[in-house]
Amino acid sequence: MSAVLSVEDLRVRFRTMGSLKALTTGTADPFIDAVCGVSFEIRKGETLALVGESGSGKSTIARTIIGLQPAFGGSVSFDGQELIGLKAAERKSYLRRMTMMFQDPVGSLSPRMTVQSLLTEPFRIHGVSNRDPGAEAERLLRMVGLPADFGRRYPHQLSGGQARRVGVARALALNPDLIIADEPTAGLDVSVQGEVLNLLARLQDELGIAILIITHNLNVVRHMADRMAIMYLGRVVEIGSTESIFDHPRHPYTEALLSANPVPDPDAVLNRIEIKGEVPSMLRRPTGCEFHTRCQYAQDICRRVFPAPSANPDDAGHSFRCHFPLQQKSQQAADSAAAISR
Ligand SMILES: Nc1ncnc2c1ncn2[C@@H]1O[C@H](COP(=O)(O)OP(=O)(O)OP(=O)(O)O)[C@@H](O)[C@H]1O
Ligand SMILES: [Mg+2]
Repeated sequence: MSAVLSVEDLRVRFRTMGSLKALTTGTADPFIDAVCGVSFEIRKGETLALVGESGSGKSTIARTIIGLQPAFGGSVSFDGQELIGLKAAERKSYLRRMTMMFQDPVGSLSPRMTVQSLLTEPFRIHGVSNRDPGAEAERLLRMVGLPADFGRRYPHQLSGGQARRVGVARALALNPDLIIADEPTAGLDVSVQGEVLNLLARLQDELGIAILIITHNLNVVRHMADRMAIMYLGRVVEIGSTESIFDHPRHPYTEALLSANPVPDPDAVLNRIEIKGEVPSMLRRPTGCEFHTRCQYAQDICRRVFPAPSANPDDAGHSFRCHFPLQQKSQQAADSAAAISR
């Protein structure tokens, strides 16, 4: 199936001090590469999760896709159209078809607007004037399971879960092909988290929307995502189907992330792997494999050589950057059986 969104070798660079300060102090203006050669695709109706520790560049990728942040290099193409380098006016027609739900549910809704005007603001922004705002607000509220009279409320009169539903409804206003949801469950009670996720999943089923979901919560990933990409220091270190990665993580960072995740199944045997040390600064990236400073399997080559991506032989869609990828469990079992029979 064709890709709705295709991101290729995306780079985003931030200056770390104002250029005026750099000028007056006579120092070079240092920069960080917050997103460093990231590539992925999302197909129609598919959910891709971006996972990784705080500061790994997830929100920056989202903001760059929707044009809130300029790219330093690479490509973002939506339905075959390159968006990088487009003028704001040219980009606008594509932004109708992809919407973003921001990280903070209540804070991302303007406090002085009623729910009805929040829900119909996308029509005003995109010059869609032939619709009745009251009827549209009602239609959208119904889609997300809220009563019609919520249109008269203000954001501070909503609970966290209701605010998230309004966020979903607003994202649906212009029938998007892609929703980017940045931490859609953060700050919500567990039961409300489930409601919001089920709502997104149902709408995706009914409307065939693709979703890019950004989350720290691996249970959410498992529940929602067809594929997942694991980020470390602004790079994708492993990408593949959710099933493949949960069953056979190949990158040691992924293994450690998954092992730190509380598993709902009480019978699951958990060998929790601590990731030692601090996340390195993007200002001073480690040489070689950037995870080597925290990797329990690191060898000399890992300190020297940046690993090229390798693909899983059984699953070409699953790739990872590691000199010593973890063996697949089937391989481990075969090896230990061979050792016993020797
Ligand atoms: N406007 C900015 N100016 C300078 N640096 C920035 C800016 N926005 C983000 N950064 C830096 O870029 C890096 C990536 O930040 P980003 O917000 O994308 O991370 P994240 O993965 O979304 O983290 P979290 O999980 O905490 O939301 C961080 O080091 C951050 O400090
Ligand atoms: Mg973020």
